Amino acid sequence: MLVLAVESSCDETSVAIIKNGKEVLSNIVSSQIDIHKKFGGVVPEVASRHHVENITVVFEEALNEAKIKIDEIDAVVVTKGPGLIGSLLVGINAAKAFAFAHNLPLVGVHHIAGHIYANNLVEDLKFPLLALVVSGGHTELVYMKEHYEFDIIGQTQDDAVGEAYDKVARVVDLPYPGGPYIDQLAKDGVEEFKLPRAMLNKDNYDFSFSGIKSAVINLVHNANQRNEEINKANLAKSFQESVVDILVGKTLKAINQYQVKQLVLAGGVAANSGLRERLTEVMKDYPNIKLIIPPLKYCTDNAAMIGVAGTFAYLKGIRDDMSLNGKASLDL
Ligand code: KG4
Ligand code: ZN
Repeated sequence: MLVLAVESSCDETSVAIIKNGKEVLSNIVSSQIDIHKKFGGVVPEVASRHHVENITVVFEEALNEAKIKIDEIDAVVVTKGPGLIGSLLVGINAAKAFAFAHNLPLVGVHHIAGHIYANNLVEDLKFPLLALVVSGGHTELVYMKEHYEFDIIGQTQDDAVGEAYDKVARVVDLPYPGGPYIDQLAKDGVEEFKLPRAMLNKDNYDFSFSGIKSAVINLVHNANQRNEEINKANLAKSFQESVVDILVGKTLKAINQYQVKQLVLAGGVAANSGLRERLTEVMKDYPNIKLIIPPLKYCTDNAAMIGVAGTFAYLKGIRDDMSLNGKASLDL
């Protein structure tokens, strides 16, 4: 089974060809990060324009690299949301045009389903499983009883964890997106500042990151007012420790309650070295639960993960038609 997958929900234009929901024949990702860096964040209008400029070239490259004939493709799958509406529409319209021209079925995929299914590229998903989803827009614990069934058991009540990383990075003048820079800096720091572990002791699976973010912003502003130099590496380390404590603490609470075969990590913040290391360490105490962490290139946005999720959605009988529309916000 071959699918052509399209992802354009934020600032990456990407097209992939995926075989049997497992094998990546091609995965072309054209990132706009350098363009948005000078604005300190993604500018939606600028992002849409660049998707329009890039999409045909990315399509061509993905088809060429996969070395397949178009008539071998079984379905076209595309991110339908959530994301920036203008960006989503570029991918959706390109996918629709391709599906229409080649008379292929069309399947709309939830972006977060894609992040979760990136793990199927490492190892076959086994159910029930628990997914810790940590991206720029989402922080969720998702329980899956079987393929393509998502039950959100906990989520952030305010900021997403990636969003908190990016805001903290911004107050210490690091480039966009700040997550990888904070991660790098934290490696040279010690936990000098004691930051809050919001909701960690609450008896639920929900998260909150706005308090930690505000605590960091206050520390920086107070230091600036007193003309004091703040140690950025120590600040990064303190922030990361607090975030990892919360994410891992809540995840352990959930796996102690739910009987799962696998724990999978998903989303851009899954690239975080502190989180990867801590999860690997604590899961040694749970030999019956397999921890899967995607390789770095499948953590941040890409069409390969959409292709994998789309394959399983297709096998479940999910179909869309030419009325498929983008949705800026969309439930999993
Ligand atoms: O999943 P993603 O590529 O886009 C969304 O779907 O939101 O996630 C992007 C987020 C950004 O906030 C970025 O700063 C964060 O992932 N990120 C990281 C790391 N790499 C990317 N955060 C912490 N540590 C990293 N190494
Ligand atoms: Zn994403």
